[in-house]
Amino acid sequence: MIRLNKYMADCGVGSRRSCDKIIAENRVKVNRKPVSELGYMINEFNDTVTVDGKKITPKNKNVYIILHKPKGYVTTVKDEKGRKTVMELVDVKTRVYPVGRLDYDTEGLLIMTNDGDLTYKLTHPKYEVTKKYIARVEGDITDSQLDELRRGVVIDGKKTAPAGVTLLEKNDEGCKIELAIHEGRNHQVKKMFEAIGKQVVFLKRTEMGEIRLGGLSRGKWRYLNEKELNYLKNI
Ligand code: URA
Repeated sequence: MIRLNKYMADCGVGSRRSCDKIIAENRVKVNRKPVSELGYMINEFNDTVTVDGKKITPKNKNVYIILHKPKGYVTTVKDEKGRKTVMELVDVKTRVYPVGRLDYDTEGLLIMTNDGDLTYKLTHPKYEVTKKYIARVEGDITDSQLDELRRGVVIDGKKTAPAGVTLLEKNDEGCKIELAIHEGRNHQVKKMFEAIGKQVVFLKRTEMGEIRLGGLSRGKWRYLNEKELNYLKNI
């Protein structure tokens, strides 16, 4: 939520003080309702603001969303094989791009934005943003295999950094494991399990730093909230 006069200033209407004047003159509507109250707060992502009947929009505003990517979608803008892309799932006016990749058959949390600096920070290992995944593997898994994952395994000729590993479930069909890593190597989770002789049959990303998928339904997206944006700005 931000003050209406700040939003108007961000849209290039004028200084905050001159925007207050315009508000007091009854020339502003929020979602078609006249607003003349100074200090009025709006949701800058969802509310529609008009001045003298004309819609105003912020200049060069960065947009940040989180998508629950379903499996069966590629994380690119266009796919040369004609497969569905995550772009088809988000209907925001500003073009936003995926931050990092999830495999075609992986589901879960995907941040999308037009903020290139943030994309860099979230994907570069030096910032050590922890990504959490839930993986399901077939068959049993031993404590020593879990320890191997924790210590790091060699994939593509290089050892992975220490990882957080928690066994969540074990039954006749297989095991469910939570993995917390901060690198973002190609197919990293699947390759880490391959390195200990296990095949991932289901993979879902649930967290990136303090951004959590929570109860967001598969295929749905939402704007990041203020708390999440503050976290991202302070990485
Ligand atoms: N690791 C993988 O193997 N696949 C993903 O999609 C993400 C992390």
